[in-house]
Amino acid sequence: MSNKCGTDIDRAVSELKQGHLVAIPTETVYGLAANATDTYAVAQIFEAKKRPSFDPLIVHCENWQRAQEWIAHAPERAHRLAEVLMPGPLTMVLPKNPAIPDLVTSGLDTVAIRIPSHPLTRELLTRLPFPLAAPSANPFGYVSPTSAQHVLDQLQDEVAYVLDGGICVVGLESTIVSITETGWEVLRLGGMDLADIERIAGCSPDAVRLSSSRPEAPGMLHAHYAPKKPVFFGSEADFSALYPNATFVLLTYLQEGKTDLGPSLAADVKYLSRTSDDKEGAAQIFRYLRELEHHPADWIVATPWPEKGLGRAINDRLQRAAASNSLTI
Ligand code: TXA
Ligand code: MG
Repeated sequence: MSNKCGTDIDRAVSELKQGHLVAIPTETVYGLAANATDTYAVAQIFEAKKRPSFDPLIVHCENWQRAQEWIAHAPERAHRLAEVLMPGPLTMVLPKNPAIPDLVTSGLDTVAIRIPSHPLTRELLTRLPFPLAAPSANPFGYVSPTSAQHVLDQLQDEVAYVLDGGICVVGLESTIVSITETGWEVLRLGGMDLADIERIAGCSPDAVRLSSSRPEAPGMLHAHYAPKKPVFFGSEADFSALYPNATFVLLTYLQEGKTDLGPSLAADVKYLSRTSDDKEGAAQIFRYLRELEHHPADWIVATPWPEKGLGRAINDRLQRAAASNSLTI
């Protein structure tokens, strides 16, 4: 593997202090990190990802106490959520402190705060005098990276160093919620189950806004997370009715207790889980979308999961991956 990649925290600290980009492991996906208080360093993130500058970045902090330095004020509910659910795959959007540059938040008056739980990145954050702005470490619009190798495959020339923390255990980006004095809203489904957030928040969300048109949030764009092979999101039967002659690989799961899928015309079948375990499915999804790009079949046919738990977030990502060829059902 490249000499740019390893577990040397001293090197990561030194590169970040010099204003360079370092890819960091988190429990969700790898991030492309820079000093969040240094506009010049943050500008390089947008450059490296070819990301539009109207897409705001998440600010990663060591703990809730330090996170509060970057927030104007936090409603009581935010304190409660932070106390129980952070560190973890949750991002909270809160009123921002002016010390966070406008480039990080795209001029919004809110900032997205996350406290990752990966031990290497937690240690890194304790050794830095500033928080880290970090989007997922992939070219804009493409599948998020869940291993150090995924980062090297695409951004090796753009990063000073990749801190290798192994395979991301959650595998889906954080769930993003916006917290106000009166309630909360969901802005992105992700690695934390909404049921857990509801339990601590003490009420259901005012809205689940997974809109495709808010220009300030391309991560919520209808077409996103797309591999370079067409994805069809739906059943094999629906696909075959539309494309009777096309070859395809089926990306699906097995129901608990079943040992096979039954008759299928697929050239190949990949299981996100053999026990319809949504956590396992979430952890595998981006790896498979990357791998199956190189499969000889014409299409990836991804079947919908039950709309509960992380199944909702899995469906969200598959739907967006398929939307780039406008063939979701
Ligand atoms: O799990 C994750 O969240 C990963 C890891 C690296 O932490 N990060 C990640 O970042 O997925 P990114 O940039 O790929 O997605 C962050 C999303 C974007 O869609 C952005 O628009 C939204 O967060 N966002 C950031 N700040 C926001 C704000 N102030 N208001 C609304 N949305 C915001
Ligand atoms: Mg992203």
